[in-house]
Amino acid sequence: MSDQEFPTDNPAVVTVGLPYANGDLHVGHLRGYVDGDVYARALRRLGQQTAFVCGSDMHGTPIVVNAGDAGVDPEEYALDYHEIYAETFPQFNVEFDNYGHTHDETNTELTREFVRTWVENDHVYEKEIQVGYDPEADQWLPDRFVEGTCPYCGEKARGDECDEGCQRHLEPGEIEDPVSTRTGNPAEYRTREHKFLRLNDFQEYLQGCIDRLEGTSNAQNQPREWIEGDLQDLCITRDMEWGVDYPAREDEGAEDLVLYVWVDAPIEYVASTKQYTERVGPDAYDWEEVWKVGGEQRHGTEWDDDWTDEAGEIVHVIGPDIIQHHAVFWPAMLRGAGYNEPRAIMATGFVTIGGESLSTSRNRAVWADEYLDAGFHPDLFRYYIVSGSGLETDVDFSWDRFAERVNGELVGNVGNFLYRSLLFAQRNYGGTPAADTSDEVCERIEDAIEAFETAVNEYELRTLADVGVELANFGNEYIQRNEPWNLVDDEPERARQVISDCVQLSKAVAVLLQPVLPEKAERVWGQLSEQGSVADVSLDAALETPPAEFGEPTELFSQVEDDHIVGLNDQLQRRVEATSGDEDEASEDDGEIELEPLEDGRIGFESFQDIDMRVGEIVAAEDIEDSDNLVELAVDIGVETRQVVAGLKGLHGLEELPGTRVVLLANMEKAELFGRESNGMVLAAGEDADLLTTHDDSPLGTRIH
Ligand code: 2FM
Ligand code: ZN
Repeated sequence: MSDQEFPTDNPAVVTVGLPYANGDLHVGHLRGYVDGDVYARALRRLGQQTAFVCGSDMHGTPIVVNAGDAGVDPEEYALDYHEIYAETFPQFNVEFDNYGHTHDETNTELTREFVRTWVENDHVYEKEIQVGYDPEADQWLPDRFVEGTCPYCGEKARGDECDEGCQRHLEPGEIEDPVSTRTGNPAEYRTREHKFLRLNDFQEYLQGCIDRLEGTSNAQNQPREWIEGDLQDLCITRDMEWGVDYPAREDEGAEDLVLYVWVDAPIEYVASTKQYTERVGPDAYDWEEVWKVGGEQRHGTEWDDDWTDEAGEIVHVIGPDIIQHHAVFWPAMLRGAGYNEPRAIMATGFVTIGGESLSTSRNRAVWADEYLDAGFHPDLFRYYIVSGSGLETDVDFSWDRFAERVNGELVGNVGNFLYRSLLFAQRNYGGTPAADTSDEVCERIEDAIEAFETAVNEYELRTLADVGVELANFGNEYIQRNEPWNLVDDEPERARQVISDCVQLSKAVAVLLQPVLPEKAERVWGQLSEQGSVADVSLDAALETPPAEFGEPTELFSQVEDDHIVGLNDQLQRRVEATSGDEDEASEDDGEIELEPLEDGRIGFESFQDIDMRVGEIVAAEDIEDSDNLVELAVDIGVETRQVVAGLKGLHGLEELPGTRVVLLANMEKAELFGRESNGMVLAAGEDADLLTTHDDSPLGTRIH
């Protein structure tokens, strides 16, 4: 990596976190691939030689589990998804230069070579550790085959990561109270010999590496605490059959171990780049210049400043949950094998759906196929994702907001400006009228180019979308201000000037927006009768004169109709509701509900007698408009009717509640909620407020003992 601004003289590679070949793609996945693709295109726009590579992550326990459930072997299962992904990405205009997978020969060989080099350089040792074992299933329990409690934060965690709590990577044997996900039985710990990469060898190196690291601030800052003090070594082997075999020497007795999925997965970044070189030839793009620093193998654990100018520029785009793997483990893995280090890590936020977390188990997701089947152009999605928020922040996807932004920003602003400019130019002059671009417009385009270059160097993707849109905005304002339609007859020269400016601005918009809207920008390029592809020109093309002749344009975007959005919203809502039902049933069957532990302390009968519970009947239910979850009830308890404020909104229909028999805690302290008195409490179980009732005909007001 160099310490020069982009574009540098070295080749660059942009990668995106590999998708596990383990299920359908949704908008949450697509965010990273779109962001990576936009960034790679933007680098090229600056004249930086760039490869954009990725591949499917074929190994790991979830794939073994799902393949088992599907009754196929893991390879067949993962390959099917791999093929689906390879076909899906281009449909979102995500164009990898190479898309491989972690089980292919290139990656298998390269991974084994990495490991052999670590062994030769004495970064690997073996140690006996306690590994989870399920005696009933008669199998070892690596990673996701075991669940339990995170030893760092106490949250429920998976065997290899604290996904619901502190997000830490967990080493084998670390999880507390381990339970087998195969049978639900408590796991036994058994002694097993495993291989470890000594991360401590790289501690000093990693400090420097993280200081040098560019990208988003989450990736630059979060790793600092992980590399303070002694680094925990990384167990690089697992007791499984599916994976890349550990390259055992015969005397090592490690033939039945495979490498941990997080060993061979990032190495696919390198393998995929290598495959690209194999296809285009090293003169066109040399993977070794990027990854191996001029082809030299270097070892050692201290940074050598001589590297900086020669080495390639490695940029990783990842999700926020895998920063530790990329900013700590991966640089150590690279360094231990004599490879270059990442220049930047861009860790994006997540995607939420309609303000709530995306959940595949609840089917609260917008699937890649669903978006495409709805007939929307991929560039609209790309625009929504990239310009929706800063890179580190979550993007909320909702069909309503999608329609609003497409109609307002793309149809109403960008599309409108391009169409009216090119149409006016074509009808009045047959193309671009002869006139020098005005200083005002030239300066405006130069500023936009500069903002674009800065955004690439500061890894600010949103700005890459904004500069083009703001230029179109300026264009619309420029037309309104100059009213060329009033100038054509009386001031023909000025009219030519204004329209030539507008066509120049249109061309600049196409050049600047190309990374975000590649297909739409290409269409504008064609409408302008420009030669070649807009993908191949540099930013300076934004200031070069457009052709004097072009044909009549067509509109670039079309309005998203309300009916369409209503249908899509319904579809999503129905699906979430249907799945929630299934899931509730399933989780009861599986005993998966997280039950609160029983209270340790006992109460005497006298204390119980202090609790006055009565049989009641809801006689009226009214919505409390200002509250998200409260309703007002009138509950008849024989002796009187109580007004009770209860958290039942959205869980029970208001019209269904009257007539329902309930149990009321009658001597509950009175409370005031949303300005209404609550005099008692209706008893209910669980988060869905399953109302307690009686099953015979005890009269209203009967006390419950
Ligand atoms: O977390 C994941 O989805 C992994 N499949 C990402 C792997 S990225 C890499 F380093 F290979
Ligand atoms: Zn934790």
